[in-house]
Amino acid sequence: MAEVDYSIAKFLGDNWFLIIIALIALYYFKKVFNDLRHRYFAWFMYIMTKEKSKKIEEMKGDHFSSLSSIVSNNPELRKENAIKILEIGVGTGTNFAHYPQNCRLVVVDPNPHFASYYNDNRTKFGNIHSEEIIVCGGEDMDMVESNSIDVVVMTLVLCSVTDVKQCLKQIIRVLTPGGKFFFIEHVRDFDSEKHGTRQKIQDFLTTFQIWPTLFDGCYLDRKTLEMVKDAGFSSVEGEHLYVPLGQLEKTGLGPSIQNFIFQVVTPHAKGIATK
Ligand SMILES: C[S@@+](CC[C@H](N)C(=O)[O-])C[C@H]1O[C@@H](n2cnc3c(N)ncnc32)[C@H](O)[C@@H]1O
Repeated sequence: MAEVDYSIAKFLGDNWFLIIIALIALYYFKKVFNDLRHRYFAWFMYIMTKEKSKKIEEMKGDHFSSLSSIVSNNPELRKENAIKILEIGVGTGTNFAHYPQNCRLVVVDPNPHFASYYNDNRTKFGNIHSEEIIVCGGEDMDMVESNSIDVVVMTLVLCSVTDVKQCLKQIIRVLTPGGKFFFIEHVRDFDSEKHGTRQKIQDFLTTFQIWPTLFDGCYLDRKTLEMVKDAGFSSVEGEHLYVPLGQLEKTGLGPSIQNFIFQVVTPHAKGIATK
């Protein structure tokens, strides 16, 4: 045993310089690789969202329709008939068309490579007072004042958030009393009798880190509705549904790849939680 210890110490002693160089190289490789991964994902989402699916837009239109009847907790905004919305994980900005006229929009996203797509998109919606992206995760948005937001929106983001509990805690903190959290998220299939195979594929792709590596940390196996219900909102109205993602056209992907992607992300949860 002592001999083994000695040989390890000798190896480290003889090669310390090379080991330090290798560690530094590994650190930079990881940094460059992560940056490339974020860049590719921002571009991929841009490609996937530039053509809007009619069915998804209809579903969103229905889900967000009650936004226009929300009255702000802020007296100044109330005078202008406006509300303050925080969108977490805004990406390219796919929800602008569903926001009420004159609303104030604060957005956060940890991936800085979305900024150019988001900025291009927001110029088309002059009726919304949107701000630049604050580059941070939903778990870390301490710069957003407590009790200052009328509505928080998240679409297809909780699958990627590293610490879902902490993010939901932050949402409750920033919402005004009675404020609403609107969410639409893809989830682990909720029907094990009919879709056990899909659940197994979702679990496999997630456990072996295949899906999270390809799609910037996205997990297919989350039970998001249950997590929102456990988070401490005063009420949660939510449902599970299958979203017809297969209607997206012109994404540039072949039909079989597209079909496979859509099959594993079609189970969704959507709802509105109240603080
Ligand atoms: C699939 S995209 C959805 C983008 C947009 N919400 C939409 O519906 O088109 C996932 C988004 O979540 C963001 N994201 C990843 N981790 C996050 C985190 N911890 N907090 C907030 N957003 C995050 C990604 O950068 C990306 O913009």
